[in-house]
Amino acid sequence: VDLDRAAESLRRLTGKYLPGPSRAKDLLSGTFLGHPLHPALTDAVLGCWTSALALDLRGQAEASDTMIGLGILASLPTVASGLSDYADVSGEDASRSGLVHAALNSASILLYASSLLLRKTGHRRAGLTFSSLGFGAALAAGWFGGHLAFRNGVGVDRNAFQELPADWTRAVKVEDLSFDSLDLVQVGGYSLMLRRRGGTVDALSDRCSHRGCSLHEGKLDGDLVTCPCHASVFSLIDGHVVVGPATAPQPRADVRIDQGWVEVRRPSFEADHRG
Ligand code: FES
Repeated sequence: VDLDRAAESLRRLTGKYLPGPSRAKDLLSGTFLGHPLHPALTDAVLGCWTSALALDLRGQAEASDTMIGLGILASLPTVASGLSDYADVSGEDASRSGLVHAALNSASILLYASSLLLRKTGHRRAGLTFSSLGFGAALAAGWFGGHLAFRNGVGVDRNAFQELPADWTRAVKVEDLSFDSLDLVQVGGYSLMLRRRGGTVDALSDRCSHRGCSLHEGKLDGDLVTCPCHASVFSLIDGHVVVGPATAPQPRADVRIDQGWVEVRRPSFEADHRG
């Protein structure tokens, strides 16, 4: 099987049938939560199916059937949110892992649906076999989900591992900044996007919190900047997410102008978490 071609086809399908930038996309992404929605929903599915297994072991067949049904129901929004996330994945390893993750999860849902049908038609033994296979497929899918998050960083805030200096640090001369456009500067290995407006300068991390694209290549509209990759919109003033699919805000920098230089520093924790 050509995994790359299959991954590309799946991504094309998700792009075609799932919502583009919209409230629905934000909902599936988890923008309202401040964290990706998909991993949270997977807990509901796996929790139901783990409970079903425990109930089967205790001989409580009807309760187990109920948990299997609930797991199948919970899998519907989980699949939708996962496919929506997959539409924004790039890179060979992440694309392949996402494809296998999706295939194993589809198999587990089919196996559980078959199990429920068999259980309800009096074939309890066969139903047990199918649900056990479904549980195995769901666990294997979970391994690939973990690979996507912890190895490929899908869903991780792309600014999690970089920090601005705590003390005021010179970034650029004010006269070198253009007016009302987005400029990129490096401060101690940290990429900052600056916008000069009148006598003030706003500064946000240039690395989009969603998948890491360069925000200074995006579109500036008043106090808002739109990411060039998946159209998340951030406030230039405080970095909050105005429109997803991003879930984490853009870190901002404190800015002052001293002797013709723009100086920046990491905002204090209190200043950034007030009210
Ligand atoms: S990288 Fe996806 S919205 Fe910026």
